[in-house]
Amino acid sequence: MSGRRPLIAGNWKMNKTGVEAREHVARLRAHLGDGDLHADVAVCPAFTALEATARAASGSSVRVLAQAVHEAPSGAHTGEISAGMIAAAGADGTLVGHSERRAAGETDDQVAARVRAALDVGLDVIMCVGESLEQREAGETDAWLTGQVRAGLAQVAAGEVSVLAIAYEPIWAIGTGRTATPEIAQEACAHVRAIAGETLDAVAVRVLYGGSVTPETAPALLSQPDIDGALVGGASLDPDAFAAIVGAA
Ligand code: PGA
Repeated sequence: MSGRRPLIAGNWKMNKTGVEAREHVARLRAHLGDGDLHADVAVCPAFTALEATARAASGSSVRVLAQAVHEAPSGAHTGEISAGMIAAAGADGTLVGHSERRAAGETDDQVAARVRAALDVGLDVIMCVGESLEQREAGETDAWLTGQVRAGLAQVAAGEVSVLAIAYEPIWAIGTGRTATPEIAQEACAHVRAIAGETLDAVAVRVLYGGSVTPETAPALLSQPDIDGALVGGASLDPDAFAAIVGAA
């Protein structure tokens, strides 16, 4: 037994207004109940729905995470949101380094600075890593993940392991319906854990899998020894499907 508590997080991406988020959280709460769950559960609304989602989740075990954060505390960064603003909106944490953000130009150095900025204001972090199909086919997956994990964790202290999780999300599996096999996901998550273990307690750090996780694919993925949970995109938009994935954990 690893003793690591499973974490299931729903990444809503560019979906759901505040009104829709409130309805979603109410349905999710009805599914999950407000008692003690066997897994940590989080939803990641857009910035505009963050405050409404946090209010709707208040008093429940559903945690609320932003999808991205800027590293600066304030200033001339049009369209960006600081860690302090996210915390003030009532959120518990943030994603950092999602591949859709990296594809839009977010660098390894920014990911490291953004992880640090979030932790500095007391936000939990799910840091995302993952390879492209070209990198996998070229046999570069392990080297690529090594670089992303080392870079992203560069400013994280060993004592912060409990407020940080790493999501392994192969880009070829995101939004494609092409879920990684449990074997591929396990192998990559074990590698991510080993690299994280250079600076953090490898036994304590939570490593999630993400990429076309559904109620059907979740059980086999979540039964792998190095997969401690899931970052769910498409299937998290439906509270029934998302609750079923939580049930699988
Ligand atoms: P997906 O997205 O479940 O729709 O593949 C996962 C993610 O991007 O976090």
